[in-house]
Amino acid sequence: MSLARVNTFCLDGVAARRVWVEADLRNGLPAFAVVGLADKAVREARERVRAAITNSGFAFPGGRITINLAPAYLRKIGPGFDLPLAVAIVAASGQLEGGALAGCAIAGELSLNGEIRAIRGALAIAEGARRHGLVRLFVPRSRAREAALVEEVDVVGVEDLQETVEVLRGAREAAPMPDGDPEPDEDADMPDLSDVRGHNGLIAALEVAAAGGHNLFLHGPPGTGKTMLARRLPGLLPPLTQHEAIEVTRLHSIAGLHGGGGLIERRPFRAPHHTISASGLVGGGGQPTPGEATLAHHGVLFLDELSEFTRPALEALRQPLEDGHVTIVRAQRVMVFPTRVTLVAASNPCPCGMGEAACRCSAADLARHRRRLSGPLLDRIDISVTVARPSADALRSQAAPASAELRPRILAARERQTARLAGTGLSCNAQLTARLLREHGGATPAAQRLLYALHDRNRLSARGHGRILRVARTVADLDGAGAVEPDHILRAASLRLDDQALALAA
Ligand SMILES: Nc1ncnc2c1ncn2[C@@H]1O[C@H](COP(=O)(O)OP(=O)(O)OP(=O)(O)O)[C@@H](O)[C@H]1O
Ligand SMILES: [Mg+2]
Ligand SMILES: [Zn+2]
Repeated sequence: MSLARVNTFCLDGVAARRVWVEADLRNGLPAFAVVGLADKAVREARERVRAAITNSGFAFPGGRITINLAPAYLRKIGPGFDLPLAVAIVAASGQLEGGALAGCAIAGELSLNGEIRAIRGALAIAEGARRHGLVRLFVPRSRAREAALVEEVDVVGVEDLQETVEVLRGAREAAPMPDGDPEPDEDADMPDLSDVRGHNGLIAALEVAAAGGHNLFLHGPPGTGKTMLARRLPGLLPPLTQHEAIEVTRLHSIAGLHGGGGLIERRPFRAPHHTISASGLVGGGGQPTPGEATLAHHGVLFLDELSEFTRPALEALRQPLEDGHVTIVRAQRVMVFPTRVTLVAASNPCPCGMGEAACRCSAADLARHRRRLSGPLLDRIDISVTVARPSADALRSQAAPASAELRPRILAARERQTARLAGTGLSCNAQLTARLLREHGGATPAAQRLLYALHDRNRLSARGHGRILRVARTVADLDGAGAVEPDHILRAASLRLDDQALALAA
C-alpha cells in the first residue's frame, strides 16, 4: 500500500482554489476509482491517464487505485486534473520519489500519448500557488509565460508527462521559458480618431467620456459614424495600470480567450451582438463563466443598436453597471465577477433608422423602441450626444485630431481623479456616488447656483443633477482646475441636454 499527494488548482469563478490529488494504491482486484465531487470530465480522466502513463514508458500499477480529490465540498471541473492525477499515480507506484513533489503544484490536460494540452486560467492558478506558499508550478509549455507573470513562483513549462516526471526527478533541466511574440506596436491596429470627419463638435464628448470613464450614448441616423466613434474610445483611454492588466489577463485566460502569452496591456473592447442573452452579457450558465461585461472589465462594453437588445439582457446589466461587479449564485456557490466598464451605447432614432419625416415605422415599433431606450440603462449614462449627418462641407473640411494628440490631456485628467479618490477604492469620476460627489465634487457656490437654475429650467431629476455634476467634475479635471466653476457646469450640461432620448429617461 502506498500513497502520494499532488497539489493542483481548480477554477472557481474568477479564482483558483487549491485541490489535493491523493493517489492510494492497494493490493486487490484491478480497479481505478476517482472520488471527491468530480465532474464528468474529471472522471473521464481515468482513461486518458491510463493511456498516457503506459504510452510515456511508465508502468501502470495493477491492484486497486483510488484517487481522492480534496477538499470534498469543492466541485472539480474540467480536464486540468489529468496531469496531477497521472503524476500522483506514477509517484504512488514508486516510479517517482514522493519528496520531489513537496512545494510543487501541477496543472495540465493530457492526451492519450502523454502530451500536455493547454489549460485555461494559468495566471489564476499561479496566483493560487503563490497564495498557498507553493514555490514551483508545472503548467503546459504554451501557458508558461502567462503563469510566470507571478514572479514569486518558479514556473516550469512542460510538453509531456515523461518530461514532467524527469524534471521532478531532477534527471532533466526545466526547459527555458518559451519566447513571446515580439511586443506588438501598441497603436498599430488601434483605430484612430483622425479617421473621423465632420464631427468636431463631438470630440469633447469623447474626450470627457474617456477622461472620466463616463458611460456614453450616441444617438443618430444610420451611417453617420456612431459605431466608428465608439470603436475609437479605447484608443483614448489611459493605459491599463499593472494591477488592471493582471486582472484583465486573468479574466480573459479563465474565459479561454488568452493564448497564454504575456500580459494583456490594451483595454478590452467588447461589442456583443444584440441577440445576446442575459447570461451571455453578465455571466452565468450551469458552470458559470464570465459574461461580456466581465470580459470588458477595465475597458469598453459597446452595445450597438441598443434598442434591439432584449429587455432581460438590459435589465441584467443594470446592477452590474452600478456596482462594478455581478454576483452569480449557483447550487450553493456564490461567484463574483468584476464588471467595471465604460458603457457605450448607440441607437438609431427609430427602428427603420430614417427618423422624423422619412420614418416608415409603425406606432407600435416606435413605442417599443422608446421603451427600450428609456429603459433600464439610460439613467446609467452620463453623456448623451446626437451624431447628426455631417454636411458635405463638414465632411470635407473637418478632420478629428489624432488620438495620440488627445491622450496626454486625458491621462492628466485621470491622474488628478486617481489622486483625489485615493483610498476610496474608486478610480474615476464616473464612479462617484451622491455622497462622494458632495465630498469630492468641489463645486463653487456660483456653480451650484447655476446647477439649480438649470435644474428648474430643464426639470432635471435628482439623478440628472448628479450626472451633470459628475461630468462637470471631469471637465474641470481636463482643464486642470481644482474647483468646478459655472463654465464647467455649462459645458457638462451641453453634453447631455441636447438629446430627446435622454429627456425621456430623466
Ligand atoms: N463621420 C464620418 N467620417 C468618416 N467616415 C465615416 C463617417 N461616418 C461614416 N463613415 C463611414 O461609414 C461607415 C459606416 O459608419 P458607421 O458604421 O460608424 O455608422 P453608424 O452610425 O454606426 O450607422 P448604423 O446606424 O447603420 O449602425 C464607416 O465605417 C466609415 O467608413
Ligand atoms: Mg452602427
Ligand atoms: Zn422609423
